[in-house]
Amino acid sequence: MAVVDASRFLADLYHLRGFGRVGTGVIRPAYSAPDIEARDWLAGRMAEAGLVPQFDAMGNLFGLAEGPSLLLGSHSDTQPTGGWLDGALGVIAALEVARASRESGGPAISVVSFQDEEGRFGGTTGSAVWSGALALADADAVADTDGVILGEARKVLGSRIGPDVNPRQFTGFIELHIEQGPALDAAGEQIGVVSDIVGYREMMVTLTGQQNHAGTTPMALRRDAFQGLSRFAVRLEDRMRNVVTPQSVWTIGHVAVAPNAASIVPGQVRFSMQWRDGDKDRLARMRCVIEAVLADVAGEMELGLEIGPLMVLEPVAMDRALRKRLEAAAEAVAPGRWRLMPSGALHDATNVARLMPVAMLFVPSIGGISHAFEEDTAEADLVAGLRVLARAAGVT
Ligand code: GLV
Ligand code: MN
Ligand code: MN
Repeated sequence: MAVVDASRFLADLYHLRGFGRVGTGVIRPAYSAPDIEARDWLAGRMAEAGLVPQFDAMGNLFGLAEGPSLLLGSHSDTQPTGGWLDGALGVIAALEVARASRESGGPAISVVSFQDEEGRFGGTTGSAVWSGALALADADAVADTDGVILGEARKVLGSRIGPDVNPRQFTGFIELHIEQGPALDAAGEQIGVVSDIVGYREMMVTLTGQQNHAGTTPMALRRDAFQGLSRFAVRLEDRMRNVVTPQSVWTIGHVAVAPNAASIVPGQVRFSMQWRDGDKDRLARMRCVIEAVLADVAGEMELGLEIGPLMVLEPVAMDRALRKRLEAAAEAVAPGRWRLMPSGALHDATNVARLMPVAMLFVPSIGGISHAFEEDTAEADLVAGLRVLARAAGVT
């Protein structure tokens, strides 16, 4: 019989939703006031559970058990307009499993809420720094889309910052997360055990034309940066077909048009170019296509082209032994209603895999919607995820 308390878990999950809540969604980006308030509340809940709360310099919040322990968790920051479960589910489930384990004399479990998984400053920033993939000094220089650098933003942590948390005290890491895609919901399944996490590439691109008068500049003489982006996006759709599979994705998600005024031919456009795939070679081929199309369009339209540094996260396979524990737990909790599947979303587990064995499990996202206020999961599925996590962690 499970020792985890589903009502207490759900009550904490709903409480966390209150920090930055807007309608059904949440606005709680890294280092915002709601993010820090949520972390302070979480630190209190960790202490009440008998764990030692500890913030590191990035604002990653650990709840530490004594001695060697299994680490469970995810992140509690959100997208600029985010859903209530992305990250939050894994953190609160970890808290409940650790708490229940202490109460029942189970194994030592520690908890983490990583900082800036959602990428106000790039992507999985807190776990990237903790894992050594990114130097703190380099992270500090990264600016968000408003031009605020991380080094300034994290000053809000003040005296919360404690010593670095030594990863060697952890025997492994398991992250419970919502699927954020349609597969489990469409199939009526309850659990996804993750086989591997896709690779990720992102860079900022700037196209520069000539800012000019929108009424007097003949169409044939314009060097319109926005029209350059538009031609690039359409042509990319066509040219990518030669190298991608149905699992490959690419997104132009952030666009800043300058000067962004109705009566001015746009002089500059700066945008994010992101692409993901499970295969490293295909990621490289996609990059070649992107850069070739950019160069063609810039040449044809006489636009300046600048490409920023490439952010790289390689595809990562989950640890076989931990995965087997999740598979056995999934079969016990949701017999015949689980599957092995890749993750198309990025997760802190990608970085933590540099340090220790990692594994992940998913619960369904209703309608496959995530990174949106509508993001939701049935309570029964949230609790099933909690129970699978607990079993896999040896808390039964
Ligand atoms: C993380 O939220 C991602 O973009 O996959
Ligand atoms: Mn997430
Ligand atoms: Mn997310």
